[in-house]
Amino acid sequence: METILNEQIEKEGYSSNLYLAMAVWIEENGFNGISKWLYAQAEEERVHMLKFISYIAERDANAIIPEFKKPPVDYGNVKDLFEAVLKHEKYISSSINDIVGKSLDERDYTTHTWIQWFVTEQIEEEASVREILDKLELVGDKNLYMFDRDILGMRGTAAAE
Ligand code: FEO
Repeated sequence: METILNEQIEKEGYSSNLYLAMAVWIEENGFNGISKWLYAQAEEERVHMLKFISYIAERDANAIIPEFKKPPVDYGNVKDLFEAVLKHEKYISSSINDIVGKSLDERDYTTHTWIQWFVTEQIEEEASVREILDKLELVGDKNLYMFDRDILGMRGTAAAE
């Protein structure tokens, strides 16, 4: 259990760096609203990483701060970027599910209860990215300026202000 929880520290920390890299790239491309949304997501992922670190320490195990791989520097276009966010969140959801499975296999009901917060969080994160992709489909390529303004009202942005 200690190993899989430590692996999740790396995954949450990489998520934070990934969204930071995306925020920087999209900001350079003139989309300040989307970049704020991504900066807020990067902050949330850092908080997720810290939750794993403190839980491991609370259980009297060793939290290890890992090396993080470098995220990509180019994300194609706005739609490609959000497709990449959704793909990444699905990957994170499946790793959270692996922790749920392992906690049951090992009859570690404390971890099983603790990890439920992340199960709910992943449902919300995937739903919010799907909502963004649906909106992008509606506005089309010509109205990305409006979309960039509208995303400021969507989940997560407030944390970056
Ligand atoms: Fe912490 Fe979005 O996974």
